[in-house]
Amino acid sequence: MTRISFLNGQFIDHSQAFVHIEDRGFQFADAVYEVVLFANKKLVDFKPHFERLIRSLNEINIKHNIKIAEIEKIALELFAKNAMEKGSVYIQVSRGVANRMPWLPKDIEPSLIMTVSPAKVLSDEEFDKGASMMTHEDIRWKRCDIKTVGLLAQTLINQKAKDLGFDDALFVRDGVITEATYSNFFIVDENDMLITRAADNLILQGITRNRILDLATKNGIKIVEKNFGVDEIFKAKEAFTSSSTLMLRPITKLDGKQIGEGKAGEITKKISELYKQFIQS
Ligand code: PDD
Repeated sequence: MTRISFLNGQFIDHSQAFVHIEDRGFQFADAVYEVVLFANKKLVDFKPHFERLIRSLNEINIKHNIKIAEIEKIALELFAKNAMEKGSVYIQVSRGVANRMPWLPKDIEPSLIMTVSPAKVLSDEEFDKGASMMTHEDIRWKRCDIKTVGLLAQTLINQKAKDLGFDDALFVRDGVITEATYSNFFIVDENDMLITRAADNLILQGITRNRILDLATKNGIKIVEKNFGVDEIFKAKEAFTSSSTLMLRPITKLDGKQIGEGKAGEITKKISELYKQFIQS
C-alpha cells in the first residue's frame, strides 16, 4: 500500500513528498511541530496540541493562517488514507522558502507538512521492567518551551545514552532536572506526592504532562510542580516519563543505580491506567 503524506495543500505519495532546498526549516531549523496520538478513532487532546502549535508559531513570529478544523480534518484523512487505526500524526510548519539570510524574510508562505506513523506500544514486560537513564548536562538553548525542530542536542544525547547501554538521557541544568530528551519527567516521593518540574522556559510543557497532573488531582493524588535534583530521585519511590507517543514510561534506573524498588510503581501504574481510560473515553 502506498504511504500517503500531506505537503502544502496536497495529499501525496510519501516517496514523492519533497520540500525545497531553501526551505527555512531545512537550513535554519526555522520550524515548529507537534506530535499527536491517534487512538480509539480520535486525536488525543488535539485542542491543547493545536494551541501549543499556535503558541510556538507566535513565539518565533511565523505568520500563518492555520485553522484547527482544517488541521484536524487533514490528520483524520491521513489516518484513513493510510488505513491506520492507531498511531501518531506529525505536524510541522516552517517559515517557508526564501534565499538564505540570517534574519527573517518577509512575505513568504509557511510550509505545512503532515505525516502519520504507527503507534509505539510498550509491552507489559517493558512497562513493568521500566527504562534506564543516564543524567546529562542540558546543553539546549533557553527556549525549550517552544517546540521547534532544532532537535540536534536531544538527538545526539539520546544516541549517546543508547551507545552507552541506557534507554534515554535525563537533562540536568544547574543541578536541577529539566526533562528527558523527548519527554517530561516525574517522581513519586515517600509520601505518594507526584512531583514534576514547574513549566518554564527550560522545558516543554507537555500535553501528556498536563493531562496527567489533571487526572492525578481529580483522582486524589497530591501533586506539586517544583524543582528537584538527582538526590531526590534516589529518595523517590517511583519515577516515570510522559510523552504523546509512549504515554507513561516507568524509569527504574538512573546512572546504573536503582530507583525505588526497581520496577514500575503503584502510583505510576494507577496514573497509566487513568490515562488509558481517558484515551478510551
Ligand atoms: N516529544 N519534552 C520534550 C523535549 C519533548 O520532545 C516532548 C514530546 C515532551 C512531551 O510532550 P507531549 O506530552 O506534549 O508529547 C516533553 C514528541 C513526542 C516528539 O518530539 O516526538
